[in-house]
Amino acid sequence: LQERLKSAGKSGEPMKHVHVVGAGVMGGDIAAWCAARGLTVTLQDREEKYVAPAMERARKFFEKRYPDEAKRNDVLARLKADVPGAGVPQADLVIEAIYENLQAKQELYARLEPQMKPNAVLATNTSSIVLEQLAEKLTQPQRLIGLHFFNPVARMPLVEVIHAADTDPKEIQAGLAFARQIDKLAIPCHSAPGFLVNRVLMPYLSEAVRAAQEGIPLALIDRAAEDFGMPMGPIELADVVGLDVVMSVGKVFFETGADVPPVLATRFSAKKFGKKTGEGFYVWQNDKPVKPP
Ligand code: 3HC
Repeated sequence: LQERLKSAGKSGEPMKHVHVVGAGVMGGDIAAWCAARGLTVTLQDREEKYVAPAMERARKFFEKRYPDEAKRNDVLARLKADVPGAGVPQADLVIEAIYENLQAKQELYARLEPQMKPNAVLATNTSSIVLEQLAEKLTQPQRLIGLHFFNPVARMPLVEVIHAADTDPKEIQAGLAFARQIDKLAIPCHSAPGFLVNRVLMPYLSEAVRAAQEGIPLALIDRAAEDFGMPMGPIELADVVGLDVVMSVGKVFFETGADVPPVLATRFSAKKFGKKTGEGFYVWQNDKPVKPP
């Protein structure tokens, strides 16, 4: 890879305009972070009602981060809700952050690709689907990279820059340069199940879920991990990441549906996805899990 990256030469101009598709927790927070780092950002989802909560979260984030009103207004003006997706033809980078469904992502790319500038980079924030599959229907499959952010975006420094065997080195270079431009630590990773971080994280989370399945209290599992030195216990982290995301990433690792621990599957079926829905393993109030004393 190092050789291929060297041959790609300089990555060119810094990005100026990022278009994010998918205004969920990740897409919304990626958009807010990019605006805070000085880029013009358009944020698209199917309907205004899906974009509004992300814009509100961004406003609160900017309020805390920029006490100076002029600076705050400046950042706010750089982030625009864009339900029709008018920002795509202007964007240097389009980041897809919709739900984890291969067909939905492929259909979206088919609509996006013809509208994008010829040199614009197409990136996915997928947590679990390999690039080779995602790129299957693109006219230029070698232009797709993964930019895998971590939750919460504003606090997690790492971005995995994912590439497939035939990804154009210029695109990888552009992804690495972009991550650095927005003050993230970029690591290049091969497109493989779980990439790097989730490959390690998912067995940890799923083992915690299995322990809960055996009847070990949730808060005790978390307390043990926290006392061991983790910033947050694995059950709380699963709720923060979202049990829908844990399920889709977990599918890469759980061999069959039968292996999904029922304690996870029942919450998932009831759409109790964690922090984002107000209940997962824990009930969430004011962005905090309610745990027994
Ligand atoms: N957005 C913005 N800011 C946030 C935030 C959020 N969602 N959550 C916390 N913060 C800010 C707080 O506002 C606070 O800011 P301040 O210092 O200016 O007041 C600061 O972070 C510290 O907040 P807390 O005291 O509440 O939090 P902690 O010091 O306990 O740290 C944490 C919070 C950084 C979230 C820490 O608990 C942590 O690192 N947890 C693990 C997170 C993790 O592992 N994420 C990766 C998940 S895997 C993933 O996303 C990939 C996917 O594919 C599965």
